[in-house]
Amino acid sequence: METHIPTRQEAFDILNRYNSNESLIRHALAVEAVMRYMARKNGEDEEKWGVIGLVHDLDYERFPEEHCRKSPELLREAGWPDEYIRAVVSHGWGLCSDVEPVSVLEKTLYAIDELTGLVTTAALVRPSKSVLDMEAGSVKRKWKDKRFAAGVNREVIEKGAAILGVDLTQLITDTILGMRTVAREIGLEGTG
Ligand SMILES: [Fe+2]
Ligand SMILES: [Fe+2]
Repeated sequence: METHIPTRQEAFDILNRYNSNESLIRHALAVEAVMRYMARKNGEDEEKWGVIGLVHDLDYERFPEEHCRKSPELLREAGWPDEYIRAVVSHGWGLCSDVEPVSVLEKTLYAIDELTGLVTTAALVRPSKSVLDMEAGSVKRKWKDKRFAAGVNREVIEKGAAILGVDLTQLITDTILGMRTVAREIGLEGTG
């Protein structure tokens, strides 16, 4: 039997079947965009990286207590391959799963997931309210301020950068550049 390769449309449809919260959908789109950007940068399979990014929090809105445990069920029912499901679950390593990120795709997802949240909050407190004219310094200045975007776990991001073997500032820059490609869709285009 041939392996089923989920399309972007399938990923978008299943995301919308289980999610209606606008900020969660924007988060999914932001993570997708950064994964696509990173795939292009590394010469990897952009479609695969993007699709996994889009569904990585599939179960969170409806099954918050079973985050990372419900997604595999939902994706398996939809015929998704194990490789995709493993990557989805590994984003919650040490938080809601014990599946360690191993591939470059998995490590990237782990490293950028929380970071997109920090970039979003840092963009929204800027006069422009935009990622389009934002640089890594805006995020770095907020790094040690624990009250700023208090829900964002900085240690996870630092651990992600370490396992990926990339410099934190570079990771922040890449995340911003990836998010810029969907600035309008994620509400970070600014007021203009
Ligand atoms: Fe998550
Ligand atoms: Fe997430």
